[in-house]
Amino acid sequence: MESAARFSAIFVLLFVLVGALICTRLLNYNTETLFGATPRTSQSYPHKTGEIPKKPPGKLEIPLNCPAYDLRGTCPSNYPTTFHPEQNPERPSPPTCPEYFRWIHEDLRPWARTGITREMVDRANRTANFKLVIVNGKAYVEQYEKAFQTRDVFTVWGFLQLLRRYPGQVPDLELMFDCVDWPVIPSHEYSGPNATAPPPLFRYCADDNTLDIVFPDWSFWGWAEINIRPWEVLFEELKEGNKRKTWLEREPYAYWKGNPAIAETRQDLIKCNVSEEHDWNARLYAQDWDRESKEGYNKSDLASQCIHRYKIYIEGSAWSVSEKYILACDSVTLIVKPRYYDFFTRRLMPVEHYWPIKEDDKCRSIKFSVDWGNTHRRKAQAIGKASSNLIQEELKMDYVYDYMFHLLNEYAKLLQFKPTVPKKAVELCSEAMACQAEGTEKKFMLQSLVKGPAVSEPCTMPPPYDPSSLFAVLRRKANSIKQVETWERNYWESQSKKS
Ligand SMILES: *[C@@H]1O[C@H](CO)[C@@H](O)[C@H](O)[C@H]1NC(C)=O
Ligand SMILES: *[C@@H]1O[C@H](CO)[C@@H](O)[C@H](O)[C@H]1NC(C)=O
Ligand SMILES: *[C@@H]1O[C@H](CO)[C@@H](O)[C@H](O)[C@H]1NC(C)=O
Ligand SMILES: *[C@@H]1O[C@H](CO)[C@@H](O)[C@H](O)[C@H]1NC(C)=O
Repeated sequence: MESAARFSAIFVLLFVLVGALICTRLLNYNTETLFGATPRTSQSYPHKTGEIPKKPPGKLEIPLNCPAYDLRGTCPSNYPTTFHPEQNPERPSPPTCPEYFRWIHEDLRPWARTGITREMVDRANRTANFKLVIVNGKAYVEQYEKAFQTRDVFTVWGFLQLLRRYPGQVPDLELMFDCVDWPVIPSHEYSGPNATAPPPLFRYCADDNTLDIVFPDWSFWGWAEINIRPWEVLFEELKEGNKRKTWLEREPYAYWKGNPAIAETRQDLIKCNVSEEHDWNARLYAQDWDRESKEGYNKSDLASQCIHRYKIYIEGSAWSVSEKYILACDSVTLIVKPRYYDFFTRRLMPVEHYWPIKEDDKCRSIKFSVDWGNTHRRKAQAIGKASSNLIQEELKMDYVYDYMFHLLNEYAKLLQFKPTVPKKAVELCSEAMACQAEGTEKKFMLQSLVKGPAVSEPCTMPPPYDPSSLFAVLRRKANSIKQVETWERNYWESQSKKS
């Protein structure tokens, strides 16, 4: 309790600090500061002479220029579209990107031989919510159909932040984006000797039978409707959340909370809940969306949900954005055999980062995993730590942007035509979205705003898998899962002998 109180005190403090930053930025609005110019010190708030703080070299901040936008209604034209990090002698040399970036090569392989023609891109218009075009470092969007909630808004916002982070470095391109959960480009329709190339379509997840190109989902910039803050903010909170209780102090059960109504497999999971007849070591809760939406989702605080030793991840109607929040908690993640992948989850290794749960025998599988973990505490804690470290190290926002950067770069290399701005497209910039936004949307946009160009270059793209190393990764995964199934079978056999 005490640490929780301290934590919220720190958080309030942080919030005040953020508030202070926003206020100083507002002060800058009244100056002549425009994009690309570092404010002259005489124009910002007064300093005592001799105390002019030096900005670290290369750390250029570009505040949102709402007054100019409100006045003219056009995006800033002098946004620095060329930026040369190599001019900064202190620039750190970029590290190699995390392993999961290698899947970018796999996801674009369907077009490796043919390249991508305009006709292929246009064919993806069947289901796309919008077409995004980048020409000369500026973004244009042609909207076809409004997406559910603010998925499209925060997805486009993410693209705009990438442009602020790497101005002038994101290549010209045209792409189609579909914000609906399920992948829709079946691979079997595009295989065989006479097959046409598939339409390239970006979305948040895909599975082994589809060719949709996976891209980070909107929740990295915030999910306004259910008050899930931008990843950069939550990331730190979740890290703190791990410290509230040691693993041993946590409830020795498997916890899940969510909406069971949206998928049969979730209703099946609920049958494993503790009851008078049985205890499968599962403690499962249905999210009361009606009540929680009225209360501002204050009970859904993700950072305070790391109080069970085991946490279950189960897909909903497709992949679920909850996965990264669950993995970030250093309890053991129990993953019910998933069908879908998003841009980073192919990195997860069973037994190393999570414990695999059978789809068709959930209750017994959960019961066994919890018993195993409670009797192999050291190993169980190591699994929990491994997933939380993976998220902390490989899924920080820097890498999310670098993933977007490299995916778009590789995609653009395949284009066989010169991207042009469609007649019906509108130019979008961070000002066009954030200055007019209100409430939670505005708050999340300001929280996730990229302050200025990155001081270092994007991480270095790892090479593609060769067929045998890709096969080795897949085999290692399959073997770990088989191993767990064997342990599980032996466990239930010995249980039945006992009774
Ligand atoms: C999709 O593109 C095709 C080919 O350019 C065009 O004929 C069709 O009208 C477009 N459909 C939609 C829904 O925009
Ligand atoms: C592929 O195209 C060729 C030439 O048009 C045709 O003879 C052949 O039957 C087609 N094969 C299939 C599987 O459709
Ligand atoms: C699971 O059981 C617990 C304890 O009896 C109960 O509080 C909870 O509401 C149950 N969950 C569901 C989804 O019924
Ligand atoms: C959440 O908000 C509701 C209504 O505003 C309030 O009654 C409740 O005490 C709050 N709960 C928490 C845990 O803050």
